[in-house]
Amino acid sequence: MKNFKFLLTVILMPLAFNAYADGTDVVCGPWLQNVTQNEFTVMWMTGGKCLSWLETAPDDGSAFEACERPRTYRTIAGKRYTGTLHAVRVKGLEPGHSYRYRIYAREVLDDSNAYCSIYGKELNTGASGTVRTLDYGAGQCTFSMINDIHDRADLYRKLTDPLADKDIDFLLLNGDIISYAANIDTAACHTFGPAADMIRNLPLFFARGNHEGRGADACLIPGLFRTSTGEFYYIFRQGPVAFIVLDAGEDKPDTSVEYSGLADYDSYRQEELEWLKEAVKDPLFAEAPVKVAICHIPSLRFPDSWHSQIWANEYFNPVLNAAGIDLMLSGHHHRHIYVEAGECGNSFPIIANDNEARLDFTATSGQIHVSTYDTSDSCTHTYTIPVKR
Ligand SMILES: [Fe+2]
Repeated sequence: MKNFKFLLTVILMPLAFNAYADGTDVVCGPWLQNVTQNEFTVMWMTGGKCLSWLETAPDDGSAFEACERPRTYRTIAGKRYTGTLHAVRVKGLEPGHSYRYRIYAREVLDDSNAYCSIYGKELNTGASGTVRTLDYGAGQCTFSMINDIHDRADLYRKLTDPLADKDIDFLLLNGDIISYAANIDTAACHTFGPAADMIRNLPLFFARGNHEGRGADACLIPGLFRTSTGEFYYIFRQGPVAFIVLDAGEDKPDTSVEYSGLADYDSYRQEELEWLKEAVKDPLFAEAPVKVAICHIPSLRFPDSWHSQIWANEYFNPVLNAAGIDLMLSGHHHRHIYVEAGECGNSFPIIANDNEARLDFTATSGQIHVSTYDTSDSCTHTYTIPVKR
């Protein structure tokens, strides 16, 4: 028994020490969200409950320590947030400019007394990055997309590692990056971890897949992202291209036994449809020379299509057709599919990217160029798509 107690002490002592020391450690992220011409949001997770903030500086070659840099906190209804999931929004920026950020933290040691919280000392966490704001006036838009990774970190890295030396505007995750959100921390690690070095510097946009709606922590998944609408459907623009991001929800009917009575996606899609009808009139979208729709489940229709695909085909397509969409980019089918305009109620081509491929996109105001690459970074498909206007 004595030996057992000694052994337990030896095992637990370092754990207890680390639990204290690691409270301010950035254990996931940072990742960049809702980057526009004038703002960005940096998100990260700390090992323990912290007050955490950003210091920002222009990327102008000056030392970070050249002067006192502005601090920005996450606030909720006027109060600074303490916790483990941090999201700090920096506003008032210039289009197409680069900014540096550093993450600082103070661990919350004891906040049990409402009038006297005790915090640890201020620490530079060592986590930092540089972000370039989007620029609607830029001559072109270039980005890369992956989809249907399903928790395969090795696949994620193989597809994104070649991007390290490319100058792209953002990375797009087009759904099913995880298979199930059984645990939100694991889901975050699998979504952001494999590209950690890239996405602390590169804006990240996300389209939800049907699998991100599954698992005990699925309702926490929206908390990992920031969009202009607060929903998984939103618009954004870079250079000549406006993007409308859609969410077709779960793939099967809501009453399917697999959903255990929790699916309410028909109502969700209907609300989204009402939003879509107005969103396409937004000048940010309507006035862009190039219009691209992003939806994990493509709005095509095959004889064996499932419920949400049929729904998207019937209800999203008429609005997208009238809005002058030039191209839809999707995933979901785990194989490469190209659907010509006019094949199934779509007046725009649809590309569903393979699950083991990266899709690279470049567009000017007159033309879209798309290429896909396999895990060896060899080109597998290439398309040049004229712009309608
Ligand atoms: Fe899917």
